Amino acid sequence: MAAIENSKVTIVGAGSVGSSAAYAALIRGSARHVALYDIATEKVEAEVLDLAHGTQFTGSSDISGGSDLSVVEGSHVVVITAGAKQRPGQTRIELAGVNAGIMKSMMPQLLSVAPDAVYVLVTNPCDVLTVLAQEETGLPPERIFASGTVLDTSRLRWKLAERAGVAPTSVHAYIVGEHGDTEFPLWSKATIGTVPILDWVTPRGDRMTKDELDQIAIDVRDAAYKVIQGKGATNYAIGITSARIIEAILKDEHAVMPVSPVLHDFHGVDGVALSVPSIVSAKGAVPIRETSFDPHELDLFHASASALRDVASSLRG
Ligand code: 2OP
Repeated sequence: MAAIENSKVTIVGAGSVGSSAAYAALIRGSARHVALYDIATEKVEAEVLDLAHGTQFTGSSDISGGSDLSVVEGSHVVVITAGAKQRPGQTRIELAGVNAGIMKSMMPQLLSVAPDAVYVLVTNPCDVLTVLAQEETGLPPERIFASGTVLDTSRLRWKLAERAGVAPTSVHAYIVGEHGDTEFPLWSKATIGTVPILDWVTPRGDRMTKDELDQIAIDVRDAAYKVIQGKGATNYAIGITSARIIEAILKDEHAVMPVSPVLHDFHGVDGVALSVPSIVSAKGAVPIRETSFDPHELDLFHASASALRDVASSLRG
């Protein structure tokens, strides 16, 4: 494993998600150079200034950016957050048409200045946009993937950690599938430490029930709707999530994360981007083929694939 030296990430889109990702990357030291790019000159310059004003306290990372495409040059990682955002009550899939158009026009420009970067798509619906962008660019599947359910998995681990009385990092559980309404947890593999989740005795002295876990999965699936209803957007958690993915790439961590690359011959799924536990390193993301599903989970996985395949097909026309 060899961390990339003098590493550079560019975050595309200076809205609340992109700015939060840049902020998180700066304060975590995820990259030596953090750049923010947006076509809205005044907005991006203001965000860059605001971030730069705090760099006395951010260690060795620096921030630059603007509306000139040259900002993206030399990037090892490009994180795409640009596009329309969900309004209260709107699904991620409902953004597909407009954001697919933005992605289609943006990808060739980004590739022209950062041809060797790893591309991470955060803009929703991130799985569908990843398939379209991978087809459009012809990039190898490991070099273009969506942040997928890394965020949902963090939401799940936070909930389970509270109930189990342990740190979120000691919860080993994954949300997989679509980053959206058909996502689901891999309960058959979930453990606290090494203890299967249903066997864990909580600080209250009881065990979690299957019904309780099902409700937690629903709450996690619907978490973004609740936040968007209350404040108009989600930004902090996806910002930290993006920073975590950036550093796994730039530090060549080989970290296991449920990101969403286009899958090929993966448990019967082909040509659809879905989140599955994957190894994230300087090369990008490689799905872990040995991941197993119980029969019910496999049905859910195929249902998620089929829903997204239909959306992608409708966008191809
Ligand atoms: C989220 O899950 C809206 O996809 C965004 O926070």
